[in-house]
Amino acid sequence: MSFKKNILCIGAGYVGGPTMAVIAKKCPDCRIVVVDISAERISQWNSDNIPIFEPGLDKIIKETRGGNLFFSTEIEKGIKEADIIFVSVNTPTKTFGEGAGMASDLQYWEKTAHTIVENAESDKIIVEKSTLPVRTAEAMERILKASNRNIKFEVLSNPEFLAEGTAIKDLLEPDRVLIGSHKTEEGLKAAATLVDIYAHWVPKEKIITANLWSAELSKLVANAFLAQRISSINSISALCEKTDADISEISYAVGSDSRIGSKFLKTSVGFGGSCFSKDILNLVYIAQSYNLKEVADYWEMVVKMNDYQKRRFVQKIIKEMFNTVANKKIALFGFAFKADTGDTRDSPAIYITKKLVEERAFVSITDPKALDNARKDLEGIERLAAENGEGSGNSGIADGHGGERVKLVPDPYEAARDAHAIALLTEWVEYKDLDFEKLYRSMKKPAFIFDGRNILDHKKLYEIGFNVYPIGMSHFTHFE
Ligand SMILES: NC(=O)c1ccc[n+]([C@@H]2O[C@H](COP(=O)([O-])OP(=O)(O)OC[C@H]3O[C@@H](n4cnc5c(N)ncnc54)[C@H](O)[C@@H]3O)[C@@H](O)[C@H]2O)c1
Repeated sequence: MSFKKNILCIGAGYVGGPTMAVIAKKCPDCRIVVVDISAERISQWNSDNIPIFEPGLDKIIKETRGGNLFFSTEIEKGIKEADIIFVSVNTPTKTFGEGAGMASDLQYWEKTAHTIVENAESDKIIVEKSTLPVRTAEAMERILKASNRNIKFEVLSNPEFLAEGTAIKDLLEPDRVLIGSHKTEEGLKAAATLVDIYAHWVPKEKIITANLWSAELSKLVANAFLAQRISSINSISALCEKTDADISEISYAVGSDSRIGSKFLKTSVGFGGSCFSKDILNLVYIAQSYNLKEVADYWEMVVKMNDYQKRRFVQKIIKEMFNTVANKKIALFGFAFKADTGDTRDSPAIYITKKLVEERAFVSITDPKALDNARKDLEGIERLAAENGEGSGNSGIADGHGGERVKLVPDPYEAARDAHAIALLTEWVEYKDLDFEKLYRSMKKPAFIFDGRNILDHKKLYEIGFNVYPIGMSHFTHFE
């Protein structure tokens, strides 16, 4: 069968995999190859056990893989054959040198640009899918043009707005698709080619075209605005706990204003995920580099407020449990940064686990999808416990039932057995329906529940016998 377009996607991660699966489903006239430097990731995509959990993704992969969707490690071959190349590699926060802790680490992205230029034999449209600092396309163009090989590259910015956990729905029914291009004849022609692909399933009025720099900056701004709403409501949750106001009533009252809207006004233990902190800090760094100190300070506060919320949660656990959690068992319900994903990047649970271990608690972690990632995130916790004066014999991560500091336990009832407290960190819907009487019976008394997502029935838990601590509203305790 001959295809109208050959599409390549470099980077088979949380964005590249689902995005290309949906394009493959909706554009049977396109042949799509997704490549990655990680042979392990590619072989997972080609197996029955795909590397990421995303509702609905499995089904689309089964429908399209081997038909017009292929996963491969042959990056050079893919570049040679492609008309359009999506670049969807990771752009984490830099951990070294100038801008460490704030700027984007562009090494993966730059390597990709060099690989493209070295292997291309015909004109290409390059689509930035990764989230990048504003004006990155300019650097991409410089690298691509430096080859002097008479090949034309047109760079477009097409930032991805999907959210993990709802990625397939977001891709199938996006609020909008944003395509940035140069306003030259070639730029507009390349943008029109990409518009045609999305127009296979996205209504034309939802496909927004813009200049390259607006498209790049819009993605950082969208994430900054979303995170800002969470930090704003979380800041008020602290005030509620001092004043007997109730954060859920405030969210409802404030969110009912149509100018404000109700989404992203739910208080929590803090936001996580691979993008929010990274993208805001990147925005802060860009503002600083243009000497816009007030702009930088304004946005940095969103991240600081999030750090405060995580810290406050742990401090509350310690304070309410009679100022010590040493040698007490705390069961963490949920490790993913939110429900419906196994992703734990930047999850508040990582910080909370480490702090509890520093306080010498025993931590047992349960999560329906994220325990494999939790194991990787907590590597080195053995050292943390040892530095904290523990013998190495009873520290570290374990899946069994030894005396280890941190245990990963798939069954929540097992995780909570003999625990002094449950701290609910991820809003998995199945946690609402647990048998809390059974949990209560198996725990040490007095039994505590810290609901970091305010999803549980607090009154009912109190009646069972728990001491209950939600966020931003009154707690229910059996103490005098
Ligand atoms: N995860 C999200 O929810 C989300 C949403 C919107 C945008 N984004 C942005 O999309 C980009 C990708 O994010 P992700 O979550 O998919 O990251 P990821 O880490 O899951 O995937 C990136 C993949 O790129 C591969 N890679 C790195 N360098 C490569 C190279 N030179 N050649 C081939 N493959 C290479 C890595 O091996 C990895 O598999 C980031 O810029 C991110 O900010 C992410």
